[in-house]
Amino acid sequence: MMNIADKDVYILAIESSCDETAAAVVRNGREVLSNVIASQIDLHTLYGGVVPEIASRKHIEKINQVIEAALKESAMPLEEMTAIAVTYGPGLVGALLVGVAEAKAIAYGAGKPLVGVHHIEGHVSANFIDHPDLEPPFICLIVSGGHTHLVVVKDYGEFEILGRTRDDAAGEAFDKVARAVGLGYPGGPKIDKTAREGDPKAIRFPRAKVEGAPYDFSFSGLKSAVLNYLNHARMMGEEVSVPDLAASFQYAVVDVLVSHTVEAAKVLGYDKVAMAGGVASNSALREEMRRACKRTGLALYYPSPILCTDNGAMIGAAGYYEYQKGIRSGWDLNAVPNLKLGER
Ligand code: KG4
Ligand code: ZN
Repeated sequence: MMNIADKDVYILAIESSCDETAAAVVRNGREVLSNVIASQIDLHTLYGGVVPEIASRKHIEKINQVIEAALKESAMPLEEMTAIAVTYGPGLVGALLVGVAEAKAIAYGAGKPLVGVHHIEGHVSANFIDHPDLEPPFICLIVSGGHTHLVVVKDYGEFEILGRTRDDAAGEAFDKVARAVGLGYPGGPKIDKTAREGDPKAIRFPRAKVEGAPYDFSFSGLKSAVLNYLNHARMMGEEVSVPDLAASFQYAVVDVLVSHTVEAAKVLGYDKVAMAGGVASNSALREEMRRACKRTGLALYYPSPILCTDNGAMIGAAGYYEYQKGIRSGWDLNAVPNLKLGER
């Protein structure tokens, strides 16, 4: 007879799409037994951004150690894993390939099923880990270094895209503005911190709206406005308050992210809102979204900061739901750098 423990699903998850080499063991999609992340941030800081070739090489150096550490910390042997999940896109092709090749080798060698996971579905699924009661459907704002999407999560792994960025991603805008004012890489957390000392109403920057597309975003105009402001001040020999500039820029981004999200929930009749991706750990975004959701009677969910930025646990959560749906990848699984949301 099968006991309860036999029915548990253990996913060993691997993530290497950008600059974190990460692995995790997740039980039944929501319980994290280990979550090991080797960040390359210090290395890329030297160059002011992620250098793809260096990222791939570092992943190769680290991946075995990270996976071993994840298994060790979970106190579960590889044989006990139900399936191996891996991010296969979107991301940097060379970086993704390291994780995909590794996952295939482990799954083949251990005789386990392989489940390819969409990186953005991973970000969304981080919410399931921190909120055991959260179930679809809900509205989700996905804001990372490479992506800005407003979606309806209709079911696990089922998305309806309401809006997206027309140009830069929200995180990219943070990174570019941070670089322009000399705060360095990665810009998001640095702007977040500096903005706390500044006045968000000091400079009025344009809002990142797109005419006729109520749920789309555009951050390139805002970025140009910040650069113009800086150039103008430099030409006039005026002192720029970096905290005021950071706070005003951040407020312009947050204002649009919050208003689009709350509007979508109200118009489409959803009572739950979630956030995902690196920028979802921004303190001003969290605070403004909390305030707006409270005012409009919406329940708000977001992951703890460590689960907002890239990690293996979120891939384990998404991988679990894909596995439960019967999704299996073949040994020909390849990295898909521009994999679209909702595509398999
Ligand atoms: O989700 P993520 O780790 O990687 C991608 O899939 O892109 O997101 C990284 C992005 C970077 O652009 C980083 O600057 C931004 O998230 N970020 C933040 C904060 N923490 C990370 N942006 C604003 N405020 C933060 N506190
Ligand atoms: Zn990410």
